[in-house]
Amino acid sequence: MSNEIEAIKDPGLPAHVHRKADHDPVAAKRAERQVAILFGISALGTLLLIFSYSFIPDDVFIFIPVMGEQNAHQLGLGLGMAISLFFIGMGAIHWAKTLMPDQEVIAHRHEFRSPDSDRKEFVQAVKDGAGAAGLGRRSLIKRSLGAALGLSALSPILLLRDLGPLPGNELEKTTWKAGTHLVTDPGNRRIKASDLEVGAVAQVLPEIEDPEHRHLSDIAKDAVLLIRLRPDEFNLDADRLAMTHEGIIAFSKICSHMGCAVALYEQQTKHLLCPCHQSTFDVTRAAKVIFGPAARPLPQLDITVDGEGYLVARNPFSEPVGPSFWERDSR
Ligand code: FES
Repeated sequence: MSNEIEAIKDPGLPAHVHRKADHDPVAAKRAERQVAILFGISALGTLLLIFSYSFIPDDVFIFIPVMGEQNAHQLGLGLGMAISLFFIGMGAIHWAKTLMPDQEVIAHRHEFRSPDSDRKEFVQAVKDGAGAAGLGRRSLIKRSLGAALGLSALSPILLLRDLGPLPGNELEKTTWKAGTHLVTDPGNRRIKASDLEVGAVAQVLPEIEDPEHRHLSDIAKDAVLLIRLRPDEFNLDADRLAMTHEGIIAFSKICSHMGCAVALYEQQTKHLLCPCHQSTFDVTRAAKVIFGPAARPLPQLDITVDGEGYLVARNPFSEPVGPSFWERDSR
């Protein structure tokens, strides 16, 4: 056995256990073959990737049980790359664990804490420096330095101004108007009350003429969540109830705390949750805040149906959507 694979003798360490491949040439040969097989599979993965890239057109679809219809070109690229990277990693790990030098090394380190004498010396040096600078005696310098440091703390405020501009009254203007149809997002299809089962939740946007070019900032402002409850599950005053339709209630999706998307709905409790800071809104009580930092309910959109039964907004939002620290005196 070579010196390289001998455990370093130290009374504080348990005896080193050598691997089989360290002293058994047959086991070493077997491990070598295993590593080669893993690298070989990785190479096949890369060939699959190259083949998919070069020879499978990107409009070919194949049916795979469980996964359904899949784009063969992209599937080949993804699978090929995954196999290539996974098995090259597996091969390297197996190689390191079975065949690479297995030597234990002890690195002795000195204590991190400085000796007391060094610490005293340092404190004395700081005091001597302050004394030599005359800070205690030169009160004019001391005061002016204090003023300079204090004022310099204000500079971040100026930098913060550059983060703007603030949205001002921009959030008062969403695309929702009286009579605007609600359309699915994604899909851009008008919806009827019957499309939504009790307990279901859906994201909708206002219908516009050119949905392909909907502006991202408009999507953020206009996004609305539709939730359908049984009408008797609401705990609303008459005005709020009149803003619902057959158990469907609509709220702005922008959290009234800091503007994240309120994206989680707990069907059992009928709570909407904001994932950013856990503000929780009670759907049955007009999105009243029941937990978290949000200070206001989510604005409710007044909805009804048109002559053909499609859901439409009866009115625009009656208050600005979004965080409560932005301007809110709309209408
Ligand atoms: S942004 Fe929703 S809780 Fe903070």
